[in-house]
Amino acid sequence: MFIDEIRSDFAQLQSDIAEGPILPTVTAEEVRTYLESRYDFHRTMPLEEVVIDVEKMLRNWQVQVTHPRYFGLFNPSVTLASVVADTLVSMYNSQLANWRTSPAANEIERHTLGWLAKKFGMPSNSIATFTSGGSEANLSAVVVALTRAFPAYGEHGLRHLSGTPTIYLTAESHNGYNKIAHMTGLGRRALRVVSTDSDLKMNLSDLRRSVAEDRNNGFLPLMVIGTAGTTATGVIDPLVEVGQFCREEGLWLHVDAAWGGSAILVPSLKHYLDGIGDADSITCDAHKWLSVSMGCGMFFCRHPETVAEAFRADVSYLSGKKTGPVFDPYTNSAQWSRRFIGLKLFMSLAQQGSDGYAEMIGHQARMGNVLRDELKASGWSILNSTPLPLVCFTRDGLVPGKFLTSLHKNQIAWMSEARVGDIPVVRACITSYRTTERDIHCVVNEMNRLVGNMDEKQFAATGQGQGNA
Ligand SMILES: Cc1ncc(COP(=O)(O)O)c(C=O)c1O
Repeated sequence: MFIDEIRSDFAQLQSDIAEGPILPTVTAEEVRTYLESRYDFHRTMPLEEVVIDVEKMLRNWQVQVTHPRYFGLFNPSVTLASVVADTLVSMYNSQLANWRTSPAANEIERHTLGWLAKKFGMPSNSIATFTSGGSEANLSAVVVALTRAFPAYGEHGLRHLSGTPTIYLTAESHNGYNKIAHMTGLGRRALRVVSTDSDLKMNLSDLRRSVAEDRNNGFLPLMVIGTAGTTATGVIDPLVEVGQFCREEGLWLHVDAAWGGSAILVPSLKHYLDGIGDADSITCDAHKWLSVSMGCGMFFCRHPETVAEAFRADVSYLSGKKTGPVFDPYTNSAQWSRRFIGLKLFMSLAQQGSDGYAEMIGHQARMGNVLRDELKASGWSILNSTPLPLVCFTRDGLVPGKFLTSLHKNQIAWMSEARVGDIPVVRACITSYRTTERDIHCVVNEMNRLVGNMDEKQFAATGQGQGNA
């Protein structure tokens, strides 16, 4: 079997990446010229040669998101099992549009999702599907919520409603809801930005005020987005209280736990997600903190009949529409032809078990604490508050954009710029199970050295963005 070769290639790649640069310096012009000179698609090449060439490009011309010092945007170091799974999926090219074509694959996904749904505390009859990512899962949530609240929406669209449905979230929620509001026809102005408290969590009284005001003005409050692990600052909204409010008001609660949801597998972290099991729907991405390769999102919903209505489809050419207690994914989700997305999570879970995962995620949470402590000890200010390993920091006079340019140029680590309120900060998120205390120690030392070397003039200069990251 090919697994031994993949294992050794994977180990070699992991160690090469850890030893090598994190950021590329290439320009678009250089890549385009190279591609045009080699690939006119008239001249053919042996596959071996193409593989060597593509690997060379990937090694040199991308941010190495699996580097232990990539402190980035939720892109993980991936498990070997997920790499093997992706190969199997491609080799067999399983089609999961309907159940009858791929019974094994469909049931593997169902089994895996059912296990996770239980961990979240969702009811046993809830439905779950693998998605391309968190954005598709969040889009699904809005479409299903609309379908449940307004039965005419599916046939007649929004124009049949007596007002505009509105969605409540905070400025910290994922920016993709703007696109979703646009795509669903709700319009971006249907989003209501609820204020946050000093910890950047959703402010309940402002939520209450905003919903009441909208009702008075003829709007149709639809749903609240509670985030468990906001993208910029890792904050978890007060899910129990927001859930209680949603029940009182008859609003749909969607918990966007695209990154933070995986904390449910860690005994010492899961209580931070209290209330998530009462949500109407949940997004959780396995391609974030469950360390499988992209794209592997998940959508969980406690209203299977509404999901079936929202994605209803009936065609003569897909046989076996219903076989006993099974469902066809093409009638229960946005996708039609469907890759065997869930195999990588199934195989990773099978290999590492829930204890292995608890250790892997718990390790990253501990590394986040180490980073926080080391930064504080050397005079940096931490501006966000979260139990998750995402640290937003700055220091007097620092211009984050300029600092990041130097950090990246020196290949010290990959970090990004974010804002906490109005304050620009450096954002570092531990997303690799390979990050060690030593990595963090080296990075903080190097950052201190960098700051020590930056003279007053440089500090005061205007930020220049984040280089080519
Ligand atoms: C909270 C949150 N929701 C949704 C998304 C979108 O997920 P994806 O990039 O998988 O579409 C992200 C991405 O970072 C996120 O942080």
